[in-house]
Amino acid sequence: MVETEPPGFGSTQDRPPGATSDEGAAQMLQLTDIRRDYRIGPVTTEILRGVDLAVGAGDLMSIMGPSGSGKTTLMNIIGLLDRPTSGRYVLDGRDVSKLADDDLAMLRNAHIGFVFQSFQLLPRLTAVENVSLPLVYRGTNRAEMRRRALAALERVGMGERTGHRPDQLSGGQKQRVAIARALVGEPAVVLADEPTGALDGATAREVMALLASLNAEHKVTILIITHDPGVARQCARQVRIHEGTLVERTAGAPGASGAAAARHPASGTEETEEDPGASSAPPAIDPNPAREPTSRRDDTGEILNPAAPT
Ligand SMILES: Nc1ncnc2c1ncn2[C@@H]1O[C@H](COP(=O)(O)OP(=O)(O)O)[C@@H](O)[C@H]1O
Ligand SMILES: [Mg+2]
Repeated sequence: MVETEPPGFGSTQDRPPGATSDEGAAQMLQLTDIRRDYRIGPVTTEILRGVDLAVGAGDLMSIMGPSGSGKTTLMNIIGLLDRPTSGRYVLDGRDVSKLADDDLAMLRNAHIGFVFQSFQLLPRLTAVENVSLPLVYRGTNRAEMRRRALAALERVGMGERTGHRPDQLSGGQKQRVAIARALVGEPAVVLADEPTGALDGATAREVMALLASLNAEHKVTILIITHDPGVARQCARQVRIHEGTLVERTAGAPGASGAAAARHPASGTEETEEDPGASSAPPAIDPNPAREPTSRRDDTGEILNPAAPT
């Protein structure tokens, strides 16, 4: 597989948090009863205990939850960096639950754009070279790669800094470059794990405004993991991880906060109690996750073999 067509976009309002199987074709991604256990010696810990989630094309969704609740575990499964212990995952109409590593890597490159708290830009490459990386591994020709990378940088307001290396950019500018890299391949979904976590308040707001405008104007489907209730509130859909499952908190959504709060009385007060340091040491992520399809994670969840550009 090489290039993919940009996804079609439809209305995404008023969707239930989990959906029944016959809705799968209409969703950008659909998780059904996803479970993820970690086994360390004789001890098995259930982190995800039956996650149901349907995300439509063009959704802007936040995922919140306390430190250790499984947010990154879920993000890694959605991003095809990890597999669930059990459950069904349909991405853009395709059941990816049981694919081999190589197939997952190709799908990941074609369908997923990643944004990380710590940017994960390659230090010796310029902005335009960093943004080109996902296309390098698709075999896109040089001129086309550069054209698309420059266009992506324009979209994030970095058209004047295309030749800068990461150490010549501010934190907010680096994250814009990282967002351009996530967008350049026109992925089905952009996954952002604490994208504003390393930024000061004003810069965090600018980056969040950028993500929101990419969603509103370009219909990019975006999932944002965040500890910041202010960030979460800007997302039309908001879910929380609670005891290994997802609870929809979007106002007016079926199964949303009213019922959830009734089932879990404590959850209504959690928004100001997010773990402040939770993602302070994110894994060293290969910014081109399609390149090394195997041996990617050690048993602490760290991702191995960060890309070394040539
Ligand atoms: N590879 C792993 N092996 C064992 N336990 C893990 C692994 N990855 C994560 N965990 C555990 O799973 C839980 C959820 O982790 P994580 O998804 O990173 O949480 P969050 O991102 O919400 O802070 C934590 O208790 C963590 O220690
Ligand atoms: Mg995390």
